[in-house]
Amino acid sequence: MTTQTTLTLRRPDDWHVHLRDGGVMAGVLPYTARQFARAIIMPNLSPPVTSVEGTAAYRQRILDALPAGSDFTPLMTCYLTDASDPAEIARGFEEGVFTAAKLYPAHATTGAAHGVTDIARIRPVLERMADIGMPLLVHGEVTDAAVDIFDREAVFIERVLAPLLADLPGLRVVFEHITTADAVAFVDAMGANVAATITPQHLHINRNAMFAGGLRPHAYCLPVAKREAHRLALRKAATSGSAKYFLGTDSAPHAVAAKESACGCAGIFNAPYALESYAAVFDEEGALDRLEAFASENGPRFYGLALNEGTVMLERGAVVVPDVIDAGGTAIVPFHAGQTLGWRIKD
Ligand code: DOR
Ligand code: ZN
Repeated sequence: MTTQTTLTLRRPDDWHVHLRDGGVMAGVLPYTARQFARAIIMPNLSPPVTSVEGTAAYRQRILDALPAGSDFTPLMTCYLTDASDPAEIARGFEEGVFTAAKLYPAHATTGAAHGVTDIARIRPVLERMADIGMPLLVHGEVTDAAVDIFDREAVFIERVLAPLLADLPGLRVVFEHITTADAVAFVDAMGANVAATITPQHLHINRNAMFAGGLRPHAYCLPVAKREAHRLALRKAATSGSAKYFLGTDSAPHAVAAKESACGCAGIFNAPYALESYAAVFDEEGALDRLEAFASENGPRFYGLALNEGTVMLERGAVVVPDVIDAGGTAIVPFHAGQTLGWRIKD
C-alpha cells in the first residue's frame, strides 16, 4: 500500500466479458461501457453466435443498446463448434467482424453445450487461424467427469493445450481467466504468442469463499476459484509487469434466482466495480504503477490494436458496492456485494 491518492490510467479495455442479449444486456452494458473503451464479447448466447452474419447482428444490437454519448467498441468473437468451417471463420476475421474465436470444450460451462467435443475435430480451423494470425481464446478446462473439478485446468494444459501448441507453435492463444499456478507457469514458459487474462474474483477470493459459513452461490464461477497458493500465484503474475497478462473480467451476469438455486449457474457479475476491484489488488500488492500495463497496454499489444486515447482517473476513497443491481428489470448480485472498496472512479 502507498499513500498515493489518485491514479490516472490510459483508458482500459476488458478482454473478456459476457453481455448476454435483450433486456439484461441493456441493463449490464452501461457498467462495462462506463469503464472500458473496448471489450471482447463472449459468444455463448443461447443459441450461440457462430456465423459472421449472426455476429454482425449481435454487434449491432450491442451498439443500439449503448447509452447515448458512450464511446465503446464491442470486439466480437465466434463460438467454435465441431461443425465450424475454416473458410467462414477466416472470412469473419478478414471482414473485421470476428476479432478472435472462442473454444469452449463441450459442456465445460454455462452456454457451452454446443462447444467442441474433441479438439482434433477443429484441427483445420485451428491451422487456418494460425496461418492468418487469428487469436484463439480458450476456456481451459477438461470436461472429463473423472477429473476432480479443482484439477480440470491443470489437466487441460497437459492433455489439450500443451499438445495443441506443440502441434501449432505459431497459434496465438489467450488462456482465458486462469486460476492456477500451473497456468501461470505454462504461460510464462511459452512464447509471446501465448497470453492470459485474469479476473478480479480470482485475484480476490480462494475456494473457501464458496463455503464461508454456508454455501455461497455468488462466489461460484468457472473455472472455479482454487486454493490460496493459486490465488497468490495469480496476484504475482498480474502485478509482475509481464506483458503476457491482461485484464479480462469474465463478468457473467445471472439473475439472482438462477444463482440462488439447487443447481446454481456459474458466473460472477463484476462489471459494475471491475476497475475498482483490480485497483484494490494492485494497491495491496504495492504495484499501482503496474495497473496501467495490465489494464490498458498488454491487451491491445497482444491483439495488435492501437492503445486507447484518453484517460480514466481513480481516487482513493470509499465506495460501497450495492447488495443487488437492477439490470433492465433483472436483479443481479454483483461481486463484492455489500463490501466497501478503497478506490473509486472519479467521474
Ligand atoms: O462462470 C462462468 N460463467 N464461466 C464461464 O466460462 C461462462 C460464464 C457464463 O457465461 O455465465
Ligand atoms: Zn467467460
